[in-house]
Amino acid sequence: CHIRNVSLFGKDYKEDHMTNLTPRIINNLGNHKHRIPNHPIEIIKNEIYKFFDSKTGITFAKFEDLNPVVTVEQNFDSVLIPKDHVSRDKKDNYYINEDTLLRAHTSAHQVELLRKKESTFLCCGDVYRRDTMDRSHYPIFHQMEGVRLFSEEELGIPLFQDRKQRTESCQEHYSLEAVEKVENELKITLEGLVKHLFGEDVQYRWMDEYFPFTHPSFEIEVFYEGDWLEILGCGIMEYQVLVNGCSEDKIGWAFGLGLERLAMRLFDINDIRLFWKSEVVLDQFQSFNGDFRQFKFVLPERKIEPAKFDLAFWIPDGFHDHDFYDIARNIDVDDAIENVELIDVFSHPKTGKTSHCYRTYYRGALKGLQFKDVEHIDTAIRAVLAEQGAGLR
Ligand code: PHE
Repeated sequence: CHIRNVSLFGKDYKEDHMTNLTPRIINNLGNHKHRIPNHPIEIIKNEIYKFFDSKTGITFAKFEDLNPVVTVEQNFDSVLIPKDHVSRDKKDNYYINEDTLLRAHTSAHQVELLRKKESTFLCCGDVYRRDTMDRSHYPIFHQMEGVRLFSEEELGIPLFQDRKQRTESCQEHYSLEAVEKVENELKITLEGLVKHLFGEDVQYRWMDEYFPFTHPSFEIEVFYEGDWLEILGCGIMEYQVLVNGCSEDKIGWAFGLGLERLAMRLFDINDIRLFWKSEVVLDQFQSFNGDFRQFKFVLPERKIEPAKFDLAFWIPDGFHDHDFYDIARNIDVDDAIENVELIDVFSHPKTGKTSHCYRTYYRGALKGLQFKDVEHIDTAIRAVLAEQGAGLR
């Protein structure tokens, strides 16, 4: 179901063996929510801006209109993601061709902004990932990236020390004192952000993490309605990222977070498809007065249970469950599908063929749907599968 040669934002791209961008995604390219006034994603973005503008004592430059079409070099190489790293996989990304893809994270812009001599900035944008289909995953979502660099002069202590080897808490290039100071500054800043969003008495904890572009790396988790929820990833930027960004005389921190995840918790939005129902959502958010703890989103009432369809077929060579979700999404342009489960995988002992069985639940984000409303979608999915060489069972 992918596109062939394509023109995006006035530039032509040639298809090749990596092309897997779909018409559904192209039609929504640039249909980002972080710039629609009173959209919950825009509200969270502004709330984060407000925190950095008023509580940190310094000015963060803001970028929120950078082109989501990026090079493989920007998305992966520039931030040191190894050539064989799983995150590059075709099953997880929308490739336009082998050199170009839709950004999978806003970290794709770190180096390009550093090269423009930006040293303290926030970068917000729509990001694109192939994934499962359920109430918390949508192939387009929004991230906020933050970067702050420090010169030796600003930090007031030596940044560099040749340590020969990196340790768990420090890269080989930097002095331990400098890392401690920057890490401390990072943690104070992000704890401030979490309190700003979730309230002063929020319960949170720091966890060790791994990212190819930061070391050491951390994650902050917030205790919310009975669960520990990962809110953001961050860390001391890898020195090589600064070198790539022509900022080799500095040290810095970076963080990245998903705006839908925050908005879903802060406004009690239980279905990610609602962010794409602007007509209903914008109406309610007109009355948002800046107080998360007072405002609650009134969820649409959906009395009908989801309509269920099972579909089993022998998969074509190299078929991945993400391919099924993309076929479904491409047909289901109004988001009637609430979630899909891969309920059975079976390999035939004689033919060596593999069969997948998917159970698709249909229910709109705003209203229930009946069998007759969605039957045509199931039929269309079957037709595309047959066309792609799947042996329907
Ligand atoms: N880019 C990471 C992600 O998408 C988040 C991140 C950004 C982590 C910056 C560390 C520093 O998951």
